[in-house]
Amino acid sequence: MKICCPHCGKEYTIKKETLKGYSGTVSIPCPNCKEKILLHPGAAGTEEADRASGHDMQAKGKAPATGDALKQRIFKTLKDLPPMPQVVQKARKVLSDPNSSFGDLAKVIESDQGIVTRVLKMANSPYYGLSGNVSSVKHASVVLGTKTLMELLNLACSSEILGQTLEGYDLAAGDLWMHSLAVANGSQLIARRVNPSLEQDAFSAGLIHDVGKIILDPYILERKAEFQTFVKERSDTFLEAEKVILGFDHAELASEVCERWQIPRHIVLAIRYHHDPTPSDNDMLSYIVHLADAAAIMSGIGAGFDGMLYTIHGDALSRLRLKEDDLFDIMGEIACYVDKTTQQA
Ligand SMILES: [Fe+2]
Ligand SMILES: [Fe+2]
Repeated sequence: MKICCPHCGKEYTIKKETLKGYSGTVSIPCPNCKEKILLHPGAAGTEEADRASGHDMQAKGKAPATGDALKQRIFKTLKDLPPMPQVVQKARKVLSDPNSSFGDLAKVIESDQGIVTRVLKMANSPYYGLSGNVSSVKHASVVLGTKTLMELLNLACSSEILGQTLEGYDLAAGDLWMHSLAVANGSQLIARRVNPSLEQDAFSAGLIHDVGKIILDPYILERKAEFQTFVKERSDTFLEAEKVILGFDHAELASEVCERWQIPRHIVLAIRYHHDPTPSDNDMLSYIVHLADAAAIMSGIGAGFDGMLYTIHGDALSRLRLKEDDLFDIMGEIACYVDKTTQQA
């Protein structure tokens, strides 16, 4: 690689390996004029930076896609992702029918044996207080009520997809699952305080608010060095890195995917604005999920990279008419919920 002394103009050739492992600024004395030549091994144009930023791929004609082009690529591969289980959609329909019974809901759930097993496992967890006593979905629906059963159904359907390792986000297996449980429960608790009619939707929105991370993870992993450099050097959030490097963030992507999955519109809106509810037109559910997300991250539950420099929207507490003490109470409750829900009966 050629370098040129900015003081005397003398040119030198140095081996790229000499700078391997260096980042930031490196200073070497010019053999001719003895002034300092400043080198930036991590700057654009050097091999290290090129590899990190994907410029080497561009040189080979394989520029990593960003913005709409990347979104289109992602949508094409969506068929490989497990869709929202039909059983949840069917169960929602049953619940919205005033003539339906406990038995009708149980019948829908029982149509999927894998889900039945997971529903029963959770119904028997210490949190739901029925340890070892719930042996059938119908029994669970009678003892727990249809609302709680629906909550368990949502949990059972999402545990597999949310439980995986996300290497791009530095989340170990189960981290995102615990974070999602925390945000689901936190959203439900906040809704109970500010607008109880939103409790169920708050739980559902909180549970899947970060589903965009599962979709984006392989694309982040592809350019992980670039993300790490961005966050470290700019002291900025990981969310900002998504926007700058990929052209959109996981919240935006998730809302578009959830629309395709025909998730109800108000839940899609809360997912879209969970990091910044300002453009949501005062949507209460968006503020609720945002605050629950912040509470989970402040409690250190499954944040990974995304938790770095997380900012709570300045108005979130006042818009929901909550005080800081409420937030601390919620943080305590969600930690307890996550602990008990993930304990085996
Ligand atoms: Fe998020
Ligand atoms: Fe989150």
